[in-house]
Amino acid sequence: MYEQLYQQSINDRDGFWAEAAAAVHWYQKWDRVLDDSNPPFYRWFAGGLVNSCYNALDWHVANGRAHQPALIYDSPVTGSVKTYTYQQLLDEVARFAGALAAQGVQKGDRVIIYMPMVPETAVAMLACARIGAIHSVVFGGFAANELATRIDDAQPKLILSASCGIEVARVIPYKPLLDKAIELAHHQPAHCIILQRPQEKAEMVHGRDLDWAELMTTAQPVDCVPVAATDPLYILYTSGTTGIPKGVVRDNGGHLVALKWSMKNVYDADPGDVFWAASDMGWAVGHSYIVYGPLFHGCTTILYEGKPVGTPDPGAFWRVISQHNVKILFTAPTAFRAIKREDPNGNYIRQYNLDNFRYLFLAGERCDPDTLLWAQNQLGVPVIDHWWQTETGWPMGANCVGLGMLPVKPGSCTKPVPGYDVQVLDYAGHLVAAGDIGSIVVKLPMPPGCLPTLWNNDQRYVDSYLSEYPGYYLTADAGFKDEDGYLFIMSRTDDIINVAGHRLSTGGMEEVLSGHPDVAECAVVGVSDELKGEIPVGFVVLKAGVLRDPDIIVQELIQRVREQIGPVASFKVAAVVDRLPKTRSGKILRGTIKKIADGNEYRMPATIDDPLILGEISDTLAKLGYPKGSGD
Ligand code: COA
Ligand code: AMP
Repeated sequence: MYEQLYQQSINDRDGFWAEAAAAVHWYQKWDRVLDDSNPPFYRWFAGGLVNSCYNALDWHVANGRAHQPALIYDSPVTGSVKTYTYQQLLDEVARFAGALAAQGVQKGDRVIIYMPMVPETAVAMLACARIGAIHSVVFGGFAANELATRIDDAQPKLILSASCGIEVARVIPYKPLLDKAIELAHHQPAHCIILQRPQEKAEMVHGRDLDWAELMTTAQPVDCVPVAATDPLYILYTSGTTGIPKGVVRDNGGHLVALKWSMKNVYDADPGDVFWAASDMGWAVGHSYIVYGPLFHGCTTILYEGKPVGTPDPGAFWRVISQHNVKILFTAPTAFRAIKREDPNGNYIRQYNLDNFRYLFLAGERCDPDTLLWAQNQLGVPVIDHWWQTETGWPMGANCVGLGMLPVKPGSCTKPVPGYDVQVLDYAGHLVAAGDIGSIVVKLPMPPGCLPTLWNNDQRYVDSYLSEYPGYYLTADAGFKDEDGYLFIMSRTDDIINVAGHRLSTGGMEEVLSGHPDVAECAVVGVSDELKGEIPVGFVVLKAGVLRDPDIIVQELIQRVREQIGPVASFKVAAVVDRLPKTRSGKILRGTIKKIADGNEYRMPATIDDPLILGEISDTLAKLGYPKGSGD
């Protein structure tokens, strides 16, 4: 069925998506499936009126799922499990939407959500959707500075936050970060609504901060507000090639149709099934497959506040799967590398009954074949590597098991998902031969669900994604298709690295290092890491005349990245060097440094300014514990 549907999605695009759109609730049907009157800006289901929250909750309550669990909050870090039926979740959301409306939040207003993995985060997202407000969730591992940048870009009316997050056994107070961010930002929200968690009591700012629980005691439930299919549902900021993040916009209608379609066809999930995306609601995976996708489809979603290891042991995932009858687990390969490292023989796996577990989906970074095969052997279920980006919001390449499973090729995310015309081009924009590496692009228009633009920045959208190959969306991934049409995603073509499945910009880190008063210039490269896939390693050249202890400067730099970007950057290794390898035109040879660090063969670049510098870099990396490249 895959081939047939794929061809239909490309050759009869409108017919294909019109059929998919029939599975969701519309207040008013669309005029056009795809409005392509203003390329390269495309709009799906123009003229349609819809509400994402209605489709996630009210529709199911009205159609027999009121008493089915909608969301199971499983939190080993607080020792609690709490189940919300569709009816209970709807009641919470409708009341919280009422609380937001009482604060003056209206359709089109932005609301920033800076919260940990608690049910209230999902409630907040759905409540915004209910009244047509645009949410922007900011991942809790980001520092105040990153939050401030997002506040200034999104200009939220309200910010929702909590007193703390919990990282294994550490309580991380969120409120000081929020206060600092508001202090740094130019834009000031009218109010903050703070969820006080028992583990930490936040100091409230009189007149600005409101108590979540208190507001809920008097809040009146409100109904869904119909919005245009093309209205934004949310903004999700993601790393760009500079320190300024990109505000990926998601619309309501296209997103709803695409996610609903993906649940059965990509993931083989049926209504009533238990679906678990072990990610964070601050990432695209969390938006799409903790909150919206499973609820649109009438599944039970798991919201897990814990880690794959250490909460309390590497059996944590198997405990959750068996306790809640999970059919489908979706996580990042790094989680499996962490489990494999602590339980190489899978002893913990055998302690649990995993009879209902059917599929493991992995995404977020390249899945090394070793990890994939280990998981497959240990679990005895298909392990599906699939490929997507924050920008697309749902997979571009996958083994669509709902359409009949194709043979798995380790190292490949299988084939383009219906709707995505994925091609591999050379520098000049020509298709490359099977097996040859090139730039991976998607022919426009992108299918529903993908970003229609960047928040308040159409030009950056065009410049970042649509200019390099006119008529195509640039994924910024490089890779190839083999003779069978299987896609292999090998690396990024820009400065983005994936650290434990978290997307980060090395350029952004370089901006932070350059801000240190002793640093003249610097380079940050992503170096292979057994657990996290990649980690950033920094090289700095000090200003002439700086005589301070380099070890102290390195510690300051590490602290600086932690404070300005956040702990999630995992920036823990840096070195002071005399000079950086460059081309004669002054371009730093980051790719060559990476190859040396990874122990890969590298060619001496013909344009290198001074070949001896590579030897120095090699020695520095050896001192940091990295293998030397062989050179030539
Ligand atoms: N709030 C505050 N701090 C956070 C945070 C949050 N929401 N999330 C992560 N951090 C902190 C961590 O505590 C850690 O801090 P530290 O340097 O003081 O130890 C740092 O950010 C780096 O976090 P992470 O890269 O996640 O490393 P880790 O060692 O805590 O955990 C894994 C490693 C592999 C177990 C974990 O990353 C994981 O489970 N990843 C797979 C699932 C996933 O989230 N995928 C994302 C997209 S699908
Ligand atoms: P994010 O926006 O955080 O989802 O990161 C998107 C990037 O992660 C992609 O552009 C890829 O570089 C990488 N990525 C995601 N999934 C995969 C995968 N299955 N295989 C290889 N790389 C992946």
